[in-house]
Amino acid sequence: MKYYNDEILSLYDEYLMSEIIEQKIFCIDKTSSISPIISPVDTIQSRLVENIEELGLKYLLNYQTQKIGDVMNLFSFFDLYPYINKTEPYKESIKGISLNNSDKSSEISRIMNDRKSIRKFSGKQISFDNISNILLNVTNSRFNEEDGFWHRNISSGGGLYPIDIFLYAHNIEKLDRNFYKLNPINKRLSIVDLDSYSKIKNIFPSSFIIDFKHMGGIFLFSFDYLKVYQKYGELTLSLGLVEVGLIAESIHLLSTSHGIGTCDIGGFDKPLCESVLKLDGINNHAVYAIVFGDRIC
Ligand SMILES: Cc1cc2nc3c(=O)[nH]c(=O)nc-3n(C[C@H](O)[C@H](O)[C@H](O)COP(=O)(O)O)c2cc1C
Repeated sequence: MKYYNDEILSLYDEYLMSEIIEQKIFCIDKTSSISPIISPVDTIQSRLVENIEELGLKYLLNYQTQKIGDVMNLFSFFDLYPYINKTEPYKESIKGISLNNSDKSSEISRIMNDRKSIRKFSGKQISFDNISNILLNVTNSRFNEEDGFWHRNISSGGGLYPIDIFLYAHNIEKLDRNFYKLNPINKRLSIVDLDSYSKIKNIFPSSFIIDFKHMGGIFLFSFDYLKVYQKYGELTLSLGLVEVGLIAESIHLLSTSHGIGTCDIGGFDKPLCESVLKLDGINNHAVYAIVFGDRIC
């Protein structure tokens, strides 16, 4: 339904209208600030969504209190893993219709078959051109005359695009060591904060598994929960995390095609990451990261 006359609405009017709508729909409702719950997080949460039992948001708000390895000691798990992994083929039926991978030599097949998690890097500087191409190819937008909306290369639940991409540049040509935010429509990287780059060590503590010292940088992903919640309610968490997955895999494949190695990082210091990226940690959550660097093998 349209509330205005297309012909008299200038681009600037459209911009103003979108600003008003965003503020009206997505702001924290200050009128319901009295909460029976004393913890600050729950107080704020109850202002955001009427139902404080909203599970997806609760999960994201409490994410930082969960520790990996709680279920089983990680070292015991590493001992067991080879056995778990090697039983995979025995679980499958050998009956059924046989499939034929006939396009194995196509460009897309070659790149997909070449992708693997890379955790050791040569330390060689990453080209700015490659990083620009990766970031723009995952976010390129075009206006669709048929439906009158902007669409990106990667699909998004309801076309809401709630995932923002940040870049920590560690060793990238033309970029100072810093955190940047990608502005996909204007195709620019803007510095988030000049002084916070040293905090990277605390967000991703040194690990014997991942060679952070020789990396080119880290892609970081934030999720604007409330933007999706207004439309999709309880589907929100699932839609957001699936969308991060779509973006992440595209980044893996594009990076592979440029000779850049990548590895997902599921766990990191979420509250610290959010403070560095200037995310409120309530509407907007740091949810995922990918480390990258010059690929040795
Ligand atoms: C959701 C997700 C989270 C992951 N988190 C980490 C991580 O924190 N650290 C790490 O070294 N690898 C991480 N990985 C990489 C997996 O360990 C890796 O994909 C798996 O061992 C299979 O190996 P491959 O990617 O080389 O095929 C993650 C992968 C996924 C999909």
